[in-house]
Amino acid sequence: MSNLLREVRRYATVEDLSRAAAVAVCAEAEAAIKIRGRFAAAVAGGHTPTRLYDALAAPPLRDRLDWSKVHLYFGDERAVPPDDLGSNFRMLVEHLLSRVAIPKAQIHRIEADAPDIETAAVEYASVVTRNVKPARASGPPSFDVMLLGLGADGHTASLFPGSPALAETQRWFVPAKSPVPPFVRVTSTLPLINAARQVFVLVSGAQKAEALAAVLGEAEDGQPLPAQLVAPQGRLVFFVDDAAAGRESVND
Ligand code: 6PG
Repeated sequence: MSNLLREVRRYATVEDLSRAAAVAVCAEAEAAIKIRGRFAAAVAGGHTPTRLYDALAAPPLRDRLDWSKVHLYFGDERAVPPDDLGSNFRMLVEHLLSRVAIPKAQIHRIEADAPDIETAAVEYASVVTRNVKPARASGPPSFDVMLLGLGADGHTASLFPGSPALAETQRWFVPAKSPVPPFVRVTSTLPLINAARQVFVLVSGAQKAEALAAVLGEAEDGQPLPAQLVAPQGRLVFFVDDAAAGRESVND
């Protein structure tokens, strides 16, 4: 799906793309804090963004950001306890939250390990609705930045190919099923993702090359990949490395 405000930034390595994405997140945070007094971001899970979080948690970026005005949410979470190796929350604690002075009340974990996954999704949607303002009147909550990854099958957040969650138009978070463990998840939906002011998609590694080419190409006939349905009102920037882009590195 073409998007007028779409940009692809290529870097030689995942370290380079992570550093560049961290600088971009920091710049958006400073702008949001200046304009709206706070920065509200939804973070991506998985492994690719860990180096971005490490860069935000270290000088100079750590000391550039006013963490007292940063509010962090999750784009999706697995139905596991917060200290489980599969938890996106645990990953974020390890790579960022344990190393910066963000007030605990401004870290909003999805309690996907709650007994009832449907209640967890409903409750988290109300947390986000209460705390994140829409950019457009009566629209979905608008994150200043929504970070996303890309799976080799073209999934993003926990929106997997063929998932009923892809058709959701009224809710901002819903339960979802993953073909790989942890199987049960809570995911943000496309209306929420596409209401973001900026969506940054981080893609690294040769194993993502086919999915990335499909996502950046025009939608083929038939079912578009979940990540092809990411077409935010705001800006869409792909931070990719050579291995995923399969081309010479061209820094922006
Ligand atoms: C998750 C993410 C998921 C991830 C992709 C890519 O909770 O796992 O939301 O969408 O971004 O699966 O994962 P890697 O970065 O580990 O390749």
